[in-house]
Amino acid sequence: MVWKPIYEFTIQTLPSKELKFMNYGYVPNEGELPLTLLPEDELDRYCIQLYHFLAIRTEIKEKSVLEVGSGRGGGSSYIYRYLHPASMTGLDLAGHAVTFANNNWAYDALHYVEGNAEAIPLPDQSMDVVINVESSHAYGSFSKFVSEVYRVLRPGGIFLITDMRLPEDLNVMQSQLAQSGMEILEEEDITDNVVQAIDQDEENKRSRIKAFVPRWFQSAISEFSGVKESAIHRHMRDRKRLYYRWMLRK
Ligand SMILES: C[S@@+](CC[C@H](N)C(=O)[O-])C[C@H]1O[C@@H](n2cnc3c(N)ncnc32)[C@H](O)[C@@H]1O
Repeated sequence: MVWKPIYEFTIQTLPSKELKFMNYGYVPNEGELPLTLLPEDELDRYCIQLYHFLAIRTEIKEKSVLEVGSGRGGGSSYIYRYLHPASMTGLDLAGHAVTFANNNWAYDALHYVEGNAEAIPLPDQSMDVVINVESSHAYGSFSKFVSEVYRVLRPGGIFLITDMRLPEDLNVMQSQLAQSGMEILEEEDITDNVVQAIDQDEENKRSRIKAFVPRWFQSAISEFSGVKESAIHRHMRDRKRLYYRWMLRK
């Protein structure tokens, strides 16, 4: 209820096709193979890396994949273009985000639908993989979302999720995942990777804000998008907010 109007307003106010993502990004661990991107995707490298190094933990090729909280659509588009699922559906609560994504990135078996993570408008056991990137902190009931993921996944299906929490809320999230009926296959603290991404993407982020955001909105968007020394950057750097990723199997 709080987030929907914020995202609707942000997307309406920033109609540029150049802005495809709304996450803080990720710098890979040593041992994670460097990601080769097409030149047109280079400016989104850090945001894409948050998706890529989560998605490749499981087989995506030829699978039916759902992204919940697809935002401006860049993540689902990346997965569709590079990892070749049989079908890719992006779902978001913000109708303007869905329209923006469909207008810009929908293609063959990639499309975006409006809907709530807590009442996913899809049939039972219709998906092989559900992915969720930096969105679940906005949900009214995380456990309702997780039960919806369980419902739409086929047996053996994979749930990939990454997001941040206050340290005191992380335990709750962990126990809700543990009680989801799905098996937790991997859990990793990636807070440092996200902080490094904010550090390394600073110049690019600031120059894009200058180029694509109206002047009156630049300072709010700088804070929202997590530039260096924004509250979110400081909190993660000081470990007052932790960013994790998980892989679960139904
Ligand atoms: C921080 S953005 C991340 C978007 C995208 N995953 C990315 O990384 O670019 C969070 C998104 O979650 C969406 N969202 C928030 N609450 C939702 C809900 N209950 N159901 C579906 N989407 C929701 C918002 O509209 C927004 O687009």
